[in-house]
Amino acid sequence: MVLFIFFVWMLKLGRSEFHPQFPNYQVLLPHILCSRKFMFQAFKQFFFVEIQCEIAANAEMIIQRVVLNSRPGKNGVPVAENFRLEQSTIADTVQAGQVRVKTLYLSVDPYMRCRMNEDTGSDYLQPWQLSEVADGGGIGVVEESKHQNLARGDFVTSFTWPWQTAAILDGDLLQKLVPQLVNGRLSYFLGAAGITGLTALLGVREKGHVATGANQTMVVSGAAGACGSLAGQIGRLEGCSRVVGIAGTDEKCSVLVQEMGFDAAINYKKGDVAKQLRELCPRGVDVYFDNVGGDISDTVISQMNQNSHIILCGQISQYNKDVPYPPPLPPDTEKIQKERNITRERFLVLNYMDKQEASVLQLCQWIQEGKLKVRETVVEGLANIGAAFQSMMNGGNIGKQIVLVSK
Ligand SMILES: NC(=O)c1ccc[n+]([C@@H]2O[C@H](COP(=O)([O-])OP(=O)(O)OC[C@H]3O[C@@H](n4cnc5c(N)ncnc54)[C@H](OP(=O)(O)O)[C@@H]3O)[C@@H](O)[C@H]2O)c1
Ligand SMILES: *[C@@H]1O[C@H](CO)[C@@H](O)[C@H](O)[C@H]1NC(C)=O
Ligand SMILES: *[C@@H]1O[C@H](CO)[C@@H](O)[C@H](O)[C@H]1NC(C)=O
Repeated sequence: MVLFIFFVWMLKLGRSEFHPQFPNYQVLLPHILCSRKFMFQAFKQFFFVEIQCEIAANAEMIIQRVVLNSRPGKNGVPVAENFRLEQSTIADTVQAGQVRVKTLYLSVDPYMRCRMNEDTGSDYLQPWQLSEVADGGGIGVVEESKHQNLARGDFVTSFTWPWQTAAILDGDLLQKLVPQLVNGRLSYFLGAAGITGLTALLGVREKGHVATGANQTMVVSGAAGACGSLAGQIGRLEGCSRVVGIAGTDEKCSVLVQEMGFDAAINYKKGDVAKQLRELCPRGVDVYFDNVGGDISDTVISQMNQNSHIILCGQISQYNKDVPYPPPLPPDTEKIQKERNITRERFLVLNYMDKQEASVLQLCQWIQEGKLKVRETVVEGLANIGAAFQSMMNGGNIGKQIVLVSK
């Protein structure tokens, strides 16, 4: 039996000798026969060669991709090493209805933390599988098309873009982009003119009860992030008379006030947040755009007015904890919320996609008019996407965190 396997193995090796990709194999053969250690390695090689031969036979294209390497655990802090860069291949032929795309930009977002768990805890999010390619918002350029509405050179986007340098995708699942709408800043379609901008705009419009002339004060947590920085500006554009942000560094606070038109900003890592909030919001808080939850939110809610509104956008301070979404408020905070009739309804941007087109056009118009200031933090290279995710979760970004894959 062993001999038979060995024989088959030698035969296969013989076959691979003729493959032009592995010219060295002939030279290696005599050594293979004299060292057991080498034999073991050669055995491994044989499988490797076998796989490579099959791939070569189908004429495929070599690409880089990023897979989930390990799960942080429901209560763990995600790190760059939870992801792994590897070489892979895609077919170099495109079937009817498909396109081959080169990836330009990828998005990393807080919701991806849930996809790192075996069970995401929500029915609209699928978990990423170990050793399988991750995916999320992405933008690329069509290099070859067999789809009737897409041509070479078109810019396209999808929410389920694979984290790889190039891919073959179903053309029906892609949306075509018009770069002129964002002054040529394509990556904005992942942020201010994409799902992030929609979240900020529709969050304010659907749950904020903001009205021109109502003299409302808005507070935004996670204010220097992708959603938060837009939400505060949109609150103002929609009629709030005072906008105060809460963010994690002095630099972020100064960007909010100097560039984004916030009236004031609080660094929650320094000093007494409650005291600063009382000074900066003397008329109390009418609208709270909440990105973070936890202690910060309890502090803000305690200063909210009667019949005021929470825009429950996200709860990032709770994402490394095994708690339901939305996490229940602590009893004291819940008491305040009930007594003061403060609304706190779940908000999910995906439930408002019928408003996507009109809302994106509104966002693009504000961007073109300079009414909506956009900040991005760009990290270069697919290899660094895990690090970009880790950094964003730890507050390393100002505005939208983008990964530039290729130019
Ligand atoms: N409801 C929806 O449909 C929807 C859609 C998109 C996004 N979201 C949610 O919106 C929120 C913001 O997302 P984004 O994409 O704009 O990300 P982001 O705000 O650009 O990035 C996350 C930011 O959260 C802050 N942060 C992290 N840990 C924190 C903690 N323990 N306490 C306070 N702040 C913390 C960090 O800034 P600091 O330096 O300030 O700490 C970090 O930069 C997230 O909660 C996300 O889940 C919801
Ligand atoms: C808004 O409220 C402030 C503070 O109470 C007040 O000084 C101001 O006149 C109000 N503005 C309007 C338009 O009601
Ligand atoms: C409580 O808030 C809701 C939503 O803003 C409002 O419709 C309702 O009239 C409020 N109830 C009272 C008693 O003020």
